[in-house]
Amino acid sequence: MELINEESAGELLQAQTHVWNHIFNFINSMTLKCAVQLGIPDVIQKHGKPMTLSELVSALPIHPSKAQYVHRLMRILVHSGFFSQQNLNQEAYSLTQSTRLLLKDNPLSMRPLLLMLLDPVLTKPHDCLSTWFQNDEATAFSVAHERTLWEYAGQDPRLSNLFNEAMASDSILASKLVLNQCKGIFDGVDSLVDVGGGSGTMAKGIAEAFPHMDCTVFDLPRVVSDLQGSKNLKYVGGDMFEAVPAADVILLKWTLHDWSDEDCVKILKQCKHAIMSKGQQKAGKVIIIDIVRESQNGEESNETQLLWDLEMMVTVTGLERNEMEWAKLFFDAGFVSYKIHNVLGTRALIELHP
Ligand SMILES: C[S@@+](CC[C@H](N)C(=O)[O-])C[C@H]1O[C@@H](n2cnc3c(N)ncnc32)[C@H](O)[C@@H]1O
Repeated sequence: MELINEESAGELLQAQTHVWNHIFNFINSMTLKCAVQLGIPDVIQKHGKPMTLSELVSALPIHPSKAQYVHRLMRILVHSGFFSQQNLNQEAYSLTQSTRLLLKDNPLSMRPLLLMLLDPVLTKPHDCLSTWFQNDEATAFSVAHERTLWEYAGQDPRLSNLFNEAMASDSILASKLVLNQCKGIFDGVDSLVDVGGGSGTMAKGIAEAFPHMDCTVFDLPRVVSDLQGSKNLKYVGGDMFEAVPAADVILLKWTLHDWSDEDCVKILKQCKHAIMSKGQQKAGKVIIIDIVRESQNGEESNETQLLWDLEMMVTVTGLERNEMEWAKLFFDAGFVSYKIHNVLGTRALIELHP
Protein backbone atom coordinates (compact mmCIF):
# COMPACT_ATOMS: atom_id res chain seq x y z
CA MET A 1 0.00 0.00 0.00
CA GLU A 2 1.36 3.44 -0.98
CA LEU A 3 2.07 5.99 1.69
CA ILE A 4 -0.56 8.71 1.76
CA ASN A 5 0.81 12.13 0.86
CA GLU A 6 -1.04 15.36 1.57
CA GLU A 7 -2.55 15.66 -1.92
CA SER A 8 -3.78 12.09 -2.13
CA ALA A 9 -5.06 12.27 1.45
CA GLY A 10 -7.49 14.99 0.33
CA GLU A 11 -8.71 12.88 -2.58
CA LEU A 12 -8.89 9.79 -0.43
CA LEU A 13 -11.04 11.54 2.16
CA GLN A 14 -13.29 12.95 -0.54
CA ALA A 15 -13.70 9.46 -1.97
CA GLN A 16 -14.45 8.12 1.50
CA THR A 17 -17.23 10.71 1.91
CA HIS A 18 -18.58 9.79 -1.54
CA VAL A 19 -18.72 6.12 -0.56
CA TRP A 20 -20.37 6.91 2.79
CA ASN A 21 -23.01 9.05 1.09
CA HIS A 22 -23.82 6.23 -1.31
CA ILE A 23 -23.93 3.64 1.45
CA PHE A 24 -26.45 5.83 3.23
CA ASN A 25 -28.55 6.99 0.26
CA PHE A 26 -31.32 4.65 1.44
CA ILE A 27 -31.58 6.74 4.61
CA ASN A 28 -32.73 9.67 2.47
CA SER A 29 -35.58 7.52 1.12
CA MET A 30 -36.50 6.01 4.47
CA THR A 31 -36.49 9.26 6.47
CA LEU A 32 -38.74 10.84 3.82
CA LYS A 33 -41.06 7.82 4.02
CA CYS A 34 -41.10 8.12 7.82
CA ALA A 35 -42.02 11.83 7.62
CA VAL A 36 -44.84 11.03 5.20
CA GLN A 37 -46.12 8.14 7.34
CA LEU A 38 -46.10 10.35 10.46
CA GLY A 39 -47.95 13.02 8.47
CA ILE A 40 -45.32 15.72 9.17
CA PRO A 41 -46.02 17.66 5.92
CA ASP A 42 -49.79 17.55 6.65
CA VAL A 43 -49.34 18.70 10.25
CA ILE A 44 -47.21 21.69 9.18
CA GLN A 45 -49.64 22.53 6.36
CA LYS A 46 -52.58 22.41 8.80
CA HIS A 47 -50.72 24.72 11.19
CA GLY A 48 -50.93 27.42 8.52
CA LYS A 49 -47.64 29.14 9.40
CA PRO A 50 -44.03 28.07 10.13
CA MET A 51 -44.12 25.52 12.94
CA THR A 52 -41.64 25.44 15.81
CA LEU A 53 -40.10 22.16 16.92
CA SER A 54 -42.12 22.08 20.15
CA GLU A 55 -45.37 22.75 18.26
CA LEU A 56 -44.49 20.02 15.77
CA VAL A 57 -43.56 17.51 18.46
CA SER A 58 -46.81 18.02 20.34
CA ALA A 59 -48.89 17.68 17.16
CA LEU A 60 -47.28 14.43 15.97
CA PRO A 61 -48.68 10.95 16.71
CA ILE A 62 -45.48 9.77 18.42
CA HIS A 63 -44.55 8.18 21.73
CA PRO A 64 -43.43 10.78 24.32
CA SER A 65 -40.06 9.01 24.65
CA LYS A 66 -39.35 9.81 20.96
CA ALA A 67 -39.98 13.57 21.17
CA GLN A 68 -36.27 14.21 21.68
CA TYR A 69 -35.43 12.65 18.27
CA VAL A 70 -37.73 14.66 16.03
CA HIS A 71 -35.24 17.51 15.47
CA ARG A 72 -32.72 15.01 14.08
CA LEU A 73 -35.22 13.62 11.59
CA MET A 74 -36.11 17.18 10.59
CA ARG A 75 -32.43 18.19 10.28
CA ILE A 76 -31.73 15.65 7.51
CA LEU A 77 -34.99 16.52 5.73
CA VAL A 78 -34.12 20.23 5.83
CA HIS A 79 -30.72 19.31 4.41
CA SER A 80 -32.32 17.37 1.54
CA GLY A 81 -34.72 20.22 0.70
CA PHE A 82 -37.99 18.80 2.02
CA PHE A 83 -38.47 21.46 4.70
CA SER A 84 -37.09 24.95 5.07
CA GLN A 85 -36.11 26.37 8.40
CA GLN A 86 -36.68 29.96 9.43
CA ASN A 87 -35.43 31.62 12.55
CA LEU A 88 -38.36 33.42 14.18
CA ASN A 89 -38.05 33.52 17.99
CA GLN A 90 -36.92 29.94 17.66
CA GLU A 91 -36.33 27.68 14.64
CA ALA A 92 -39.54 26.99 12.72
CA TYR A 93 -40.21 24.62 9.82
CA SER A 94 -42.08 25.37 6.57
CA LEU A 95 -42.95 23.20 3.59
CA THR A 96 -41.06 23.37 0.30
CA GLN A 97 -42.47 22.79 -3.20
CA SER A 98 -41.38 19.12 -3.01
CA THR A 99 -43.08 18.50 0.33
CA ARG A 100 -46.31 20.06 -0.94
CA LEU A 101 -46.29 17.24 -3.53
CA LEU A 102 -46.42 14.79 -0.62
CA LEU A 103 -49.43 16.22 1.20
CA LYS A 104 -52.31 13.80 1.74
CA ASP A 105 -54.95 16.17 0.44
CA ASN A 106 -53.06 17.66 -2.49
CA PRO A 107 -54.93 16.31 -5.55
CA LEU A 108 -51.55 16.11 -7.31
CA SER A 109 -49.93 14.25 -4.43
CA MET A 110 -47.03 11.86 -5.06
CA ARG A 111 -47.61 10.32 -1.61
CA PRO A 112 -49.20 7.09 -2.95
CA LEU A 113 -46.29 6.63 -5.38
CA LEU A 114 -43.76 7.09 -2.57
CA LEU A 115 -45.58 4.62 -0.31
CA MET A 116 -45.73 2.04 -3.11
CA LEU A 117 -42.13 2.34 -4.31
CA LEU A 118 -40.77 2.30 -0.76
CA ASP A 119 -42.95 -0.58 0.42
CA PRO A 120 -40.81 -3.57 1.52
CA VAL A 121 -42.34 -5.68 -1.28
CA LEU A 122 -40.79 -3.28 -3.79
CA THR A 123 -37.53 -2.54 -1.93
CA LYS A 124 -36.63 -6.16 -1.09
CA PRO A 125 -35.89 -7.04 -4.77
CA HIS A 126 -33.16 -4.38 -4.79
CA ASP A 127 -31.44 -6.38 -2.09
CA CYS A 128 -31.50 -9.43 -4.40
CA LEU A 129 -29.82 -7.72 -7.36
CA SER A 130 -26.46 -9.48 -7.19
CA THR A 131 -28.19 -12.88 -6.77
CA TRP A 132 -30.29 -12.08 -9.86
CA PHE A 133 -27.13 -11.33 -11.86
CA GLN A 134 -25.88 -14.78 -10.97
CA ASN A 135 -28.98 -16.85 -11.75
CA ASP A 136 -31.47 -17.17 -14.61
CA GLU A 137 -34.54 -15.57 -12.96
CA ALA A 138 -36.26 -12.97 -15.16
CA THR A 139 -36.27 -10.26 -12.48
CA ALA A 140 -34.86 -9.52 -9.04
CA PHE A 141 -38.52 -9.19 -7.99
CA SER A 142 -39.04 -12.88 -8.72
CA VAL A 143 -35.81 -13.74 -6.88
CA ALA A 144 -37.28 -11.98 -3.83
CA HIS A 145 -40.87 -13.16 -4.13
CA GLU A 146 -40.87 -16.24 -6.40
CA ARG A 147 -43.46 -14.67 -8.76
CA THR A 148 -43.76 -11.68 -11.07
CA LEU A 149 -44.97 -8.29 -9.89
CA TRP A 150 -48.22 -8.83 -11.84
CA GLU A 151 -48.77 -12.24 -10.20
CA TYR A 152 -48.04 -10.75 -6.76
CA ALA A 153 -50.51 -7.90 -7.36
CA GLY A 154 -53.09 -10.45 -8.55
CA GLN A 155 -52.76 -12.40 -5.30
CA ASP A 156 -52.32 -9.64 -2.73
CA PRO A 157 -55.07 -6.98 -2.54
CA ARG A 158 -52.90 -4.74 -0.32
CA LEU A 159 -50.16 -4.49 -2.97
CA SER A 160 -52.71 -4.24 -5.75
CA ASN A 161 -54.41 -1.26 -4.03
CA LEU A 162 -51.07 0.37 -3.27
CA PHE A 163 -50.06 -0.04 -6.92
CA ASN A 164 -53.35 1.21 -8.39
CA GLU A 165 -53.46 4.21 -6.04
CA ALA A 166 -49.87 5.08 -6.96
CA MET A 167 -50.66 4.91 -10.68
CA ALA A 168 -53.86 6.91 -10.23
CA SER A 169 -52.10 9.68 -8.33
CA ASP A 170 -49.51 9.96 -11.07
CA SER A 171 -52.20 10.05 -13.73
CA ILE A 172 -53.97 13.04 -12.13
CA LEU A 173 -50.80 15.11 -12.55
CA ALA A 174 -50.02 13.65 -15.99
CA SER A 175 -53.53 14.18 -17.40
CA LYS A 176 -53.55 17.80 -16.21
CA LEU A 177 -50.15 18.40 -17.82
CA VAL A 178 -51.09 16.69 -21.10
CA LEU A 179 -54.36 18.61 -21.36
CA ASN A 180 -52.60 21.83 -20.47
CA GLN A 181 -49.52 21.46 -22.69
CA CYS A 182 -50.79 19.61 -25.75
CA LYS A 183 -54.56 19.43 -25.81
CA GLY A 184 -54.34 19.82 -29.62
CA ILE A 185 -53.15 16.22 -30.07
CA PHE A 186 -56.75 15.13 -29.39
CA ASP A 187 -58.28 17.39 -32.06
CA GLY A 188 -60.65 15.41 -34.28
CA VAL A 189 -60.38 12.28 -32.10
CA ASP A 190 -63.71 10.49 -31.58
CA SER A 191 -62.50 7.43 -29.68
CA LEU A 192 -59.60 6.54 -27.40
CA VAL A 193 -58.47 3.37 -25.64
CA ASP A 194 -56.06 3.66 -22.70
CA VAL A 195 -54.19 0.35 -22.88
CA GLY A 196 -52.90 -0.77 -19.47
CA GLY A 197 -54.97 2.15 -18.19
CA GLY A 198 -55.22 0.82 -14.61
CA SER A 199 -58.15 2.24 -12.65
CA GLY A 200 -58.73 4.81 -15.38
CA THR A 201 -57.67 8.16 -13.90
CA MET A 202 -55.89 9.30 -17.07
CA ALA A 203 -58.79 8.31 -19.32
CA LYS A 204 -61.27 9.97 -16.93
CA GLY A 205 -59.37 13.27 -17.24
CA ILE A 206 -59.50 13.02 -21.04
CA ALA A 207 -63.17 11.90 -21.09
CA GLU A 208 -64.13 14.93 -18.97
CA ALA A 209 -62.18 17.35 -21.17
CA PHE A 210 -63.72 15.87 -24.36
CA PRO A 211 -67.32 14.86 -23.55
CA HIS A 212 -67.94 13.81 -27.17
CA MET A 213 -65.03 11.32 -27.10
CA ASP A 214 -65.72 7.65 -26.54
CA CYS A 215 -63.10 6.55 -23.99
CA THR A 216 -62.21 3.00 -22.95
CA VAL A 217 -59.91 1.83 -20.18
CA PHE A 218 -58.40 -1.50 -21.18
CA ASP A 219 -56.55 -3.51 -18.53
CA LEU A 220 -56.35 -7.00 -17.05
CA PRO A 221 -59.79 -8.33 -16.04
CA ARG A 222 -58.85 -8.43 -12.33
CA VAL A 223 -57.99 -4.70 -12.46
CA VAL A 224 -61.13 -3.41 -14.21
CA SER A 225 -63.87 -5.96 -13.49
CA ASP A 226 -65.40 -4.07 -10.51
CA LEU A 227 -65.03 -0.55 -11.94
CA GLN A 228 -67.96 1.59 -13.04
CA GLY A 229 -67.75 3.70 -16.18
CA SER A 230 -69.59 6.92 -16.98
CA LYS A 231 -71.42 8.43 -19.96
CA ASN A 232 -68.39 8.43 -22.27
CA LEU A 233 -66.03 6.08 -20.40
CA LYS A 234 -66.12 2.31 -20.13
CA TYR A 235 -63.90 -0.42 -18.77
CA VAL A 236 -62.90 -3.46 -20.81
CA GLY A 237 -60.88 -6.38 -19.45
CA GLY A 238 -58.42 -8.28 -21.63
CA ASP A 239 -54.83 -9.02 -22.51
CA MET A 240 -52.99 -6.46 -24.63
CA PHE A 241 -50.76 -9.22 -26.03
CA GLU A 242 -53.81 -10.86 -27.58
CA ALA A 243 -55.99 -7.97 -28.83
CA VAL A 244 -56.69 -4.30 -28.20
CA PRO A 245 -60.12 -2.68 -28.83
CA ALA A 246 -60.30 -0.53 -31.98
CA ALA A 247 -60.12 3.29 -31.63
CA ASP A 248 -58.80 6.49 -33.26
CA VAL A 249 -56.19 6.83 -30.54
CA ILE A 250 -54.46 4.23 -28.40
CA LEU A 251 -52.85 5.64 -25.28
CA LEU A 252 -50.00 3.81 -23.58
CA LYS A 253 -49.00 5.63 -20.43
CA TRP A 254 -46.19 4.14 -18.34
CA THR A 255 -46.99 0.76 -19.87
CA LEU A 256 -44.26 0.03 -22.42
CA HIS A 257 -41.42 0.73 -19.97
CA ASP A 258 -42.60 -2.36 -18.05
CA TRP A 259 -41.74 -4.67 -20.94
CA SER A 260 -38.78 -6.01 -22.94
CA ASP A 261 -38.24 -4.89 -26.55
CA GLU A 262 -39.71 -8.14 -27.84
CA ASP A 263 -42.87 -7.74 -25.75
CA CYS A 264 -43.20 -4.03 -26.68
CA VAL A 265 -43.14 -4.91 -30.39
CA LYS A 266 -45.95 -7.43 -29.78
CA ILE A 267 -48.01 -4.82 -27.87
CA LEU A 268 -47.37 -2.12 -30.48
CA LYS A 269 -48.42 -4.47 -33.29
CA GLN A 270 -51.75 -5.03 -31.49
CA CYS A 271 -52.11 -1.24 -31.08
CA LYS A 272 -51.38 -0.68 -34.77
CA HIS A 273 -54.02 -3.22 -35.67
CA ALA A 274 -56.49 -1.42 -33.33
CA ILE A 275 -56.03 2.01 -34.96
CA MET A 276 -56.28 0.58 -38.49
CA SER A 277 -59.28 -1.63 -37.95
CA LYS A 278 -62.03 0.97 -37.54
CA GLY A 279 -62.68 1.09 -41.26
CA GLN A 280 -62.21 4.87 -41.43
CA GLN A 281 -60.25 6.50 -44.27
CA LYS A 282 -57.50 7.88 -42.07
CA ALA A 283 -55.63 5.60 -39.67
CA GLY A 284 -55.45 6.76 -36.08
CA LYS A 285 -52.38 7.14 -33.90
CA VAL A 286 -50.73 5.82 -30.78
CA ILE A 287 -49.77 8.19 -27.96
CA ILE A 288 -47.07 7.03 -25.59
CA ILE A 289 -46.20 8.67 -22.28
CA ASP A 290 -42.89 7.39 -20.98
CA ILE A 291 -39.30 8.42 -20.40
CA VAL A 292 -37.14 9.15 -23.45
CA ARG A 293 -33.68 8.93 -21.93
CA GLU A 294 -31.16 11.68 -22.70
CA SER A 295 -33.85 13.88 -24.25
CA GLN A 296 -33.86 16.36 -21.39
CA ASN A 297 -31.07 18.61 -20.25
CA GLY A 298 -30.34 18.69 -16.58
CA GLU A 299 -28.41 16.51 -14.18
CA GLU A 300 -31.36 15.83 -11.87
CA SER A 301 -33.62 14.65 -14.71
CA ASN A 302 -30.84 12.42 -16.11
CA GLU A 303 -30.33 10.81 -12.72
CA THR A 304 -34.10 10.28 -12.34
CA GLN A 305 -34.19 8.53 -15.72
CA LEU A 306 -31.29 6.23 -14.77
CA LEU A 307 -32.95 5.40 -11.45
CA TRP A 308 -36.26 4.59 -13.17
CA ASP A 309 -34.37 2.37 -15.61
CA LEU A 310 -32.98 0.32 -12.72
CA GLU A 311 -36.39 0.22 -11.02
CA MET A 312 -37.80 -1.29 -14.25
CA MET A 313 -34.94 -3.80 -14.50
CA VAL A 314 -35.37 -4.90 -10.88
CA THR A 315 -39.17 -5.09 -10.61
CA VAL A 316 -40.30 -6.04 -14.11
CA THR A 317 -38.60 -6.97 -17.37
CA GLY A 318 -38.67 -3.39 -18.66
CA LEU A 319 -36.29 -0.52 -19.30
CA GLU A 320 -36.15 3.19 -20.01
CA ARG A 321 -35.23 3.85 -23.66
CA ASN A 322 -33.45 6.62 -25.52
CA GLU A 323 -34.80 7.94 -28.83
CA MET A 324 -32.84 5.44 -30.93
CA GLU A 325 -34.11 2.50 -28.90
CA TRP A 326 -37.71 3.76 -29.13
CA ALA A 327 -37.41 4.34 -32.89
CA LYS A 328 -36.22 0.75 -33.41
CA LEU A 329 -39.30 -0.59 -31.58
CA PHE A 330 -41.61 1.64 -33.63
CA PHE A 331 -40.15 0.59 -36.97
CA ASP A 332 -40.02 -3.09 -35.94
CA ALA A 333 -43.74 -2.89 -35.12
CA GLY A 334 -44.51 -1.40 -38.55
CA PHE A 335 -44.98 2.29 -37.72
CA VAL A 336 -43.45 4.83 -40.10
CA SER A 337 -43.20 8.12 -38.21
CA TYR A 338 -43.11 9.50 -34.70
CA LYS A 339 -42.81 12.85 -32.95
CA ILE A 340 -41.47 13.40 -29.44
CA HIS A 341 -42.97 16.23 -27.38
CA ASN A 342 -40.77 17.11 -24.41
CA VAL A 343 -43.56 18.62 -22.35
CA LEU A 344 -43.69 16.38 -19.29
CA GLY A 345 -40.39 17.01 -17.49
CA THR A 346 -38.59 13.73 -16.93
CA ARG A 347 -41.04 11.93 -19.22
CA ALA A 348 -42.12 12.75 -22.77
CA LEU A 349 -45.17 12.33 -24.94
CA ILE A 350 -44.62 10.47 -28.23
CA GLU A 351 -47.08 10.53 -31.14
CA LEU A 352 -46.78 7.47 -33.31
CA HIS A 353 -48.23 7.08 -36.81
CA PRO A 354 -48.61 3.94 -38.95
C1 LIG B 1 -47.32 0.73 -14.72
S1 LIG B 1 -49.04 0.44 -14.83
C2 LIG B 1 -49.60 1.87 -15.67
C3 LIG B 1 -51.03 2.20 -15.40
C4 LIG B 1 -51.57 3.46 -16.08
N1 LIG B 1 -51.33 3.46 -17.50
C5 LIG B 1 -50.96 4.68 -15.44
O1 LIG B 1 -49.98 5.21 -15.93
O2 LIG B 1 -51.47 5.11 -14.39
C6 LIG B 1 -49.15 -0.83 -16.08
C7 LIG B 1 -50.56 -1.35 -16.26
O3 LIG B 1 -50.52 -2.40 -17.25
C8 LIG B 1 -51.45 -3.37 -16.87
N2 LIG B 1 -51.15 -4.65 -17.55
C9 LIG B 1 -50.16 -5.53 -17.26
N3 LIG B 1 -50.22 -6.59 -18.11
C10 LIG B 1 -51.26 -6.36 -18.95
C11 LIG B 1 -51.83 -7.09 -20.05
N4 LIG B 1 -51.29 -8.25 -20.44
N5 LIG B 1 -52.90 -6.56 -20.70
C12 LIG B 1 -53.44 -5.38 -20.30
N6 LIG B 1 -52.94 -4.64 -19.26
C13 LIG B 1 -51.86 -5.12 -18.59
C14 LIG B 1 -51.32 -3.44 -15.37
O4 LIG B 1 -52.43 -4.08 -14.74
C15 LIG B 1 -51.17 -1.96 -15.02
O5 LIG B 1 -52.42 -1.37 -14.74
